[in-house]
Amino acid sequence: MTQFTFDARGPVSRRYDAPTVIRTKRDGGRLSDAAIDWVIDGYTHGRVADEQMSALLMAIFLRGMDRAEIARWTSAMIASGVRLDFGDLRRDGKPLPTVDKHSTGGVGDKITIPLVPVIAACGAAVPQAAGRGLGHTGGTLDKLESIPGFTAELSNAQVRQQLSEIGAAIFAAGELAPADRKIYALRDVTATTESLPLIASSVMSKKLAEGADSLVLDVKVGRGAFLKTEAESRDLAATMVELGRAHGVPTRALLTDMNLPLGRTVGNALEVAESLEVLAGGGPADVVELTVRLAAEMLDLAGIDGCDPAQTLQDGTAMDRFRALVSAQGGDPQASLPIGAHSETVTAPAGGTMGDIDAMAVGLAVWRLGAGRASQGERVQFGAGIRIHRRPGEPVAAGEPLFTLYTDTPDRIPGAMAELDGGWSLSPVCPPARPLIIDRIV
Ligand code: URA
Repeated sequence: MTQFTFDARGPVSRRYDAPTVIRTKRDGGRLSDAAIDWVIDGYTHGRVADEQMSALLMAIFLRGMDRAEIARWTSAMIASGVRLDFGDLRRDGKPLPTVDKHSTGGVGDKITIPLVPVIAACGAAVPQAAGRGLGHTGGTLDKLESIPGFTAELSNAQVRQQLSEIGAAIFAAGELAPADRKIYALRDVTATTESLPLIASSVMSKKLAEGADSLVLDVKVGRGAFLKTEAESRDLAATMVELGRAHGVPTRALLTDMNLPLGRTVGNALEVAESLEVLAGGGPADVVELTVRLAAEMLDLAGIDGCDPAQTLQDGTAMDRFRALVSAQGGDPQASLPIGAHSETVTAPAGGTMGDIDAMAVGLAVWRLGAGRASQGERVQFGAGIRIHRRPGEPVAAGEPLFTLYTDTPDRIPGAMAELDGGWSLSPVCPPARPLIIDRIV
């Protein structure tokens, strides 16, 4: 049924059509508030077709949007669905603080998996609306669904119950910002992911609709990030912090390095396995450092002091919360994780030191192995991915394994090898260490 939105000049839908909106942006114009409301509402309800939205997204990708357009686009996406509110949740008679974090997308970025249970173990609650893989980056939902039985399709009632009982729920956005869900899937297959306005509005529409009291953003910088320059990432962080504030949600951002993949694994189930190592008190130093640092920011915003995030990883309390979360969402925390049936290992042609590893090359290789999607709705391979045996600066002997590639479909291996080729080097000297946390934007 056609829905009409009215303003002072009459029914908005009579004044707009998709070709005119696309042409306005294609030719470098501004989209009015009413045009944005019309196109988001029309796409959500099927009156604007996929091909029309694809063309508009490409026009936005090429022409950009100003801050006011981004703010309206974000508000229109929030208005496309429901907005959750956990303000009435109590624990021990006191209000239960809710806080969340979201990353702008990285390679090997599994941080949500250990981070959410750390926050729950410290006494705050995390209502996390998470996403699927986008372009060369992985998605938390695809990773967690590699756990046999795990479901991200939760009712709002179940989210509330988990927040009260466990302190965490990780779920598909569902009724939250459904316009983002459709646009996100379209961006993934139309080469329109790397756009500041589209990333900012996508992240913030989901996060503001999910109803957390406060928010921490992990904004990636470097080769494996969607935006390539530090200046663009700073602008993205500042835009999102401002959007959060404008909607009454205290928001902070950390700018973090994404030139190298995080940790030693990239790919859905491989990353869950590495997250379990972190929750067991071990795991790669960079994954632990970023988890603990983001947790400190979240706990500060939630008003919780006296809880050491690193201690929850050592004493098993975060692991207990993770197992409870997986069980509550239908998963078997004891089940073995899938691994690709076919593998191939790249070995060192000579001795030396591992040089730089290009996160983009690794991300694209993992995508080619089947961990991501090339068309809408495609099933991902849970067992596809890459294990990184030597990180930059580690010594290497001739013939030692450097990378192992996994997939269920061996014909994908040559394409993945081609992406990886040139994305790493052996070096006679140690490459300079990069700080993982670059800046904090408040
Ligand atoms: N995460 C999102 O939710 N959307 C993006 O566009 C990028 C990362």
